Amino acid sequence: MRLIIFGPPGAGKGTQASLLETRRGLVQISTGDIIREAMKNETPVGKEAKAYVEKGELVPDTVVRKLAENAIADEDYDDYVLDGYPRTTQQAEWLTEFCEENDTPIDAVLSLSVPDEVIVERLSRRRVHAETGETYHLDHDPPPADIDPDLIVQRDDDQPETVRNRLAVYRDETEPLEEYYESRDLLLTVNGEGDIEDVYERIDSVLDERVATRA
Ligand code: AP5
Ligand code: MG
Repeated sequence: MRLIIFGPPGAGKGTQASLLETRRGLVQISTGDIIREAMKNETPVGKEAKAYVEKGELVPDTVVRKLAENAIADEDYDDYVLDGYPRTTQQAEWLTEFCEENDTPIDAVLSLSVPDEVIVERLSRRRVHAETGETYHLDHDPPPADIDPDLIVQRDDDQPETVRNRLAVYRDETEPLEEYYESRDLLLTVNGEGDIEDVYERIDSVLDERVATRA
């Protein structure tokens, strides 16, 4: 199965994509994670991306396109969930072409809907492991007690002002993709509020339904 998980910053894309990986065997391809890794390793892509990410702006389309297409090719074009890609109409069009060329179309686009006030709360309480990038939430998914507390840090782009900018960029550049995928009959909207497990169950059941109706 080839999926996209879509939604505002902090909607839970990474959390749910990682559950889809362990439970449905789909490899999580997160352009945000790939970019953060490149920034940590100070590669040319990482150096180019840094200024954009730190301001909460999008990294140029041409840069992200290569990262995403290489990652999909590494998975033999199947059994993946794209987390954070595409994010602009240009990226969506490239992805459609890329999948068509390889005869491996996207099966569904999951859109997680979460109100802004919940997003702000989730991102202010999010913490990540400095080395592995594993994500936690201080209240809903706390880091295990045996991890050195010095390794539990905040993401640089989770400062309130940057979060506000990421939300504005999402509304302007990414939200219009809902229409793009709705018109292609791929959009499955899921309520992203409530417990992590409840959200997963909703996702799991819309995917089962989609598989049953397309069979
Ligand atoms: P990226 O890393 O993709 O950031 P984002 O889209 O802003 O999304 P987040 O990772 O912040 O949130 P999430 O939806 O994954 O939520 P999470 O599961 O962590 O991108 C970062 C940057 O990279 C971009 O700003 C851009 O610069 C660049 N970039 C990446 N892709 C790009 C592209 N395609 N084009 C151009 N630039 C690109 O959950 C959030 C928190 O809430 C966590 O603490 C989690 O534990 C908690 N949580 C999750 N679900 C629940 C729940 N149900 N209840 C309670 N808490 C929950
Ligand atoms: Mg994420």
